[in-house]
Amino acid sequence: MSPDNVDDTPGRGGHVAVAIDGPAASGKSSTAQWVAAELGFRHVDSGALYRATTAAALRSGVPPAEWTAAFLLTQAARVSLAPNETSFTPQVDGESVTEEIRRPDVTRGVPHVAQVPAVRTWVNAQVRAVARSHDVVCDGRDMGTAVFPDADLKVFLVADPWERARRRLIQRLSRSPTEEEIAEETDRLVQRDAADVTQTVQAKDAVLIDTTYLTQAEQVERIVALVRAARLRRPLTPWEGLPLVPPPADGSID
Ligand code: DC
Repeated sequence: MSPDNVDDTPGRGGHVAVAIDGPAASGKSSTAQWVAAELGFRHVDSGALYRATTAAALRSGVPPAEWTAAFLLTQAARVSLAPNETSFTPQVDGESVTEEIRRPDVTRGVPHVAQVPAVRTWVNAQVRAVARSHDVVCDGRDMGTAVFPDADLKVFLVADPWERARRRLIQRLSRSPTEEEIAEETDRLVQRDAADVTQTVQAKDAVLIDTTYLTQAEQVERIVALVRAARLRRPLTPWEGLPLVPPPADGSID
């Protein structure tokens, strides 16, 4: 998908979109992946598109201080999402960058790239295009606000920064981290939260889930139950939707 050939027409042709947003290391991606697997939907990691654009820019050799919006859009054009069995593999020039996008230099550069409005527009178009042909669980910062204001379900995941840091380190180190390591990682996370604060927005109609004291299986179970409930929702019949007594003509309510 390039910026030129993307199908970004409104609507999703009846496909379901579940939006999962939240700050860094809130477990969005792994939860979204698991929820998608439970429901037989595809997982879309919008952060991977910002990261892949950053990886493409780094590959180009142009120093980050010289990355203009126009330059970043030409880098974004090298990025694509290749469907795999359960989600989409981010690619640069047709080559998987699944591991490259987790490198520290990409993590350092991506907040700047994600601030560029033209890049945001491009990423949002890619995510919407995918959702036109698949039932999706999309995770990011603004899936429930900018990308799918009409999502079938919106979830905003939060967790205490210390707990987020602890989980991230366990994943990275495959052992229990020390208190000192957790404290350092918590500082880094709080800085990242500050860098991404403008685009990390909880939609008014999102369900807020604090995962600090939940296992991942519990989070997944809750979200899957919420999706199933949302899909059963139907327009109200006149019996359910209309007040039995008409409101006063002057609009006053007593
Ligand atoms: O979730 P992540 O760490 O992979 O996100 C990478 C960067 O992209 C991070 O700086 C936040 C940003 N991002 C964003 O601004 N909007 C999204 N929908 C997803 C990610």
